[in-house]
Amino acid sequence: MSITHLIRPEIAGLEPYTPILPLDVLAARLGIPIERLVKLDANENPYGPSPRTTQALADLATTDGPTGRLSIAIYTDPNQTRLRTALSSYVAQPVERILCGAGADELIDLVLRLFLSPGDAVIDCPPTFGMYSFDTGVNGGQVIRVPRHADFSLNIPAIEVAAAVSRAKVLFLTSPNNPTGNLTPPDEIERLLRLPLLVVMDEAYMEFVDPNGDASVIPWVSQYENLAVLRTFSKWAGLAGMRIGYGIFPAWMIAQLWKIKQPYNLSLGAETAAIAALDDLDYLQVNVARIVEERSRLLARLSELPFLAPYPSDSNFILCRVTQGNARDLKLAMERMGVLVRYYNTPLLSDYIRISVGTPAQTDAVITALQHAIVGL
Ligand SMILES: Cc1ncc(COP(=O)(O)O)c(C=O)c1O
Repeated sequence: MSITHLIRPEIAGLEPYTPILPLDVLAARLGIPIERLVKLDANENPYGPSPRTTQALADLATTDGPTGRLSIAIYTDPNQTRLRTALSSYVAQPVERILCGAGADELIDLVLRLFLSPGDAVIDCPPTFGMYSFDTGVNGGQVIRVPRHADFSLNIPAIEVAAAVSRAKVLFLTSPNNPTGNLTPPDEIERLLRLPLLVVMDEAYMEFVDPNGDASVIPWVSQYENLAVLRTFSKWAGLAGMRIGYGIFPAWMIAQLWKIKQPYNLSLGAETAAIAALDDLDYLQVNVARIVEERSRLLARLSELPFLAPYPSDSNFILCRVTQGNARDLKLAMERMGVLVRYYNTPLLSDYIRISVGTPAQTDAVITALQHAIVGL
């Protein structure tokens, strides 16, 4: 008996998510050894996790006792007390305002679960990170798109109109924005906080902003009842694979989020890795500084190429308009040389590539690959 009609109709109507290929599968397909691939397509950290994190994870797997093998056999702390306490000093916020998730991605979903009934509106400002609209769809919401201006700044009056007309419950902002790399100016955030909705400020890349941390609105959470800020360990701490994100929330909201959070959403590995990273800040901040420095060099090298128009970035990636040929062909030609970048071909980003900032050697490899790829197109 078919029961497919019992599925929630808003899910049945969604487009399937296209997962990226695992690196080993891609390496086999390209016929290039995995260690020769130059992976600059997902804004990961080329320097990886800190030594203390690596050691803490090794200890977790190999020793007995309170932090050893036995602890893998028992559930984690649903209150995330140790990690939230460590984060409290990192972000200078009371522990009561912090909640962690399996990546910032989980928290985007959790926030939407809290607010959305079927049909409720969420404002998205493309081009931006795809999970806001993805999770809005999963939660039965309606995405109201307010495209950015040509320079990727927000269209503030249009957001205000959209909020009034749609009675949106949530507005997602991203600073620095992915994939455009630009910051949202504080006066614009202040103006948007006057709207009668929740503003979620996604600061996934804030650690790469120069000078470090100054542009963050985390300190504002205690002043605005309708502001939540999301952060992640995926980028600056080199822990994308461990899935650790966190949010700073107003008191009234975090009380509700605790009710709907899966009790054991953070694995012991994730919690252990993140705590060790916060204990190794000096090491990680050196790598962040290297990435920020390399960003300038990459931008300068990209600017010399006649077929690309790169945009300045406050993040760990650089968006480029492809001014000759098309972005997809360029991406595929580079991929055949083992250099992976992301391409966009959407109405708002037609013929763009995004290149993550890697090591100096990776910058050289990506420039060489670009120069060779364009010749073949
Ligand atoms: C703007 C933005 N927010 C959130 C995320 C996801 O972070 P996490 O890996 O913690 O789920 C990303 C990842 O690319 C991102 O670009």
